Amino acid sequence: MDYKSKAIMGMTNMDSTPKARIDAAVQRAIRLGQARPAPARLASALDYATSPGGARIRPTILMSVAGACGDDAPALADAAAAALELMHCASLVHDDLPAFDDADTRRGKPAVHRAYGEPLAVLAGDSLIMMAFDTLARAAGDTPARALELIRILSTRSGMPMGICAGQGWESEDQIDLRAYHMSKTGALFIAATQMGAVAAGQEAEPWEELGARIGEAFQVADDLRDALYDAETLGKPVGQDDLHGRPSAVSELGVDGAIRRLKDILSGAIASIPACPGEAQLAHMVRAYAERLTPVAPAHTAANRS
Ligand code: IPE
Ligand code: IPE
Ligand code: MG
Ligand code: MG
Repeated sequence: MDYKSKAIMGMTNMDSTPKARIDAAVQRAIRLGQARPAPARLASALDYATSPGGARIRPTILMSVAGACGDDAPALADAAAAALELMHCASLVHDDLPAFDDADTRRGKPAVHRAYGEPLAVLAGDSLIMMAFDTLARAAGDTPARALELIRILSTRSGMPMGICAGQGWESEDQIDLRAYHMSKTGALFIAATQMGAVAAGQEAEPWEELGARIGEAFQVADDLRDALYDAETLGKPVGQDDLHGRPSAVSELGVDGAIRRLKDILSGAIASIPACPGEAQLAHMVRAYAERLTPVAPAHTAANRS
């Protein structure tokens, strides 16, 4: 791609790796939200909640699927990736609040409510949610039908009855349906990742649901394992949270070895579920590489092994 095309896409430098595209797209959305006359402390909290960011795994998956489907509207894929990451960051800001997990740290630094106070953490999360949809609406350009579908997918996977709100809502029930809880709390945004990648590149969403659901399920099992096996310093956030809040997890249901076996099964199912597309082989390679990174190595001195 020549420099002029990149400038048209709004890129700030010559780097067009998925990570650079995602970071630049998130930055562009945040800058719009910080324009004058924005209140300075809330504007600063928006940066704090999104940069330098975490693993950016959801938008990375989105970009991989868009690439596998031809990525014929890259500016729309960039907007979709940014919107998805903004929604994820918002969910973490709210999740850490005293009303939910009351977590002091996130991504190796004080949680937003610890750094800016609760009112600004609530507002920062709210602002990021609005910004996600604004980003998609602004990117409609000459593919409004795709943008509308992206908005529909992101809202479905963030709200009720199947999105993050539902997932967090399960924590206020006496009996938790573990599958529905995990599917909506964590799986939903992974389904959004695969479906939004396909839709941004002009493909149907439906065939991509299963891949997203399987990657999301694997991610949740891996997250439960990390919560049980690792220390807070390694993870950059509090550990032992599932036990502390009395929540069911893959480790409490299956034990450490059982959860690791389950993780491997889910990931092989994920590879088998990749829909036919021009970049199918590359996508399978990406899921395999992700599987390796996801599988935790159980250190001998961990909390779970001590108990
Ligand atoms: C953490 O997600 C929240 C869960 C769904 C378990 P990530 O582990 O993807 O968080 P970041 O964005 O990399 O910090
Ligand atoms: C966070 O879930 C996921 C959402 C906010 C939807 P958890 O509470 O299990 O994850 P961590 O441990 O805080 O990242
Ligand atoms: Mg939580
Ligand atoms: Mg939490």
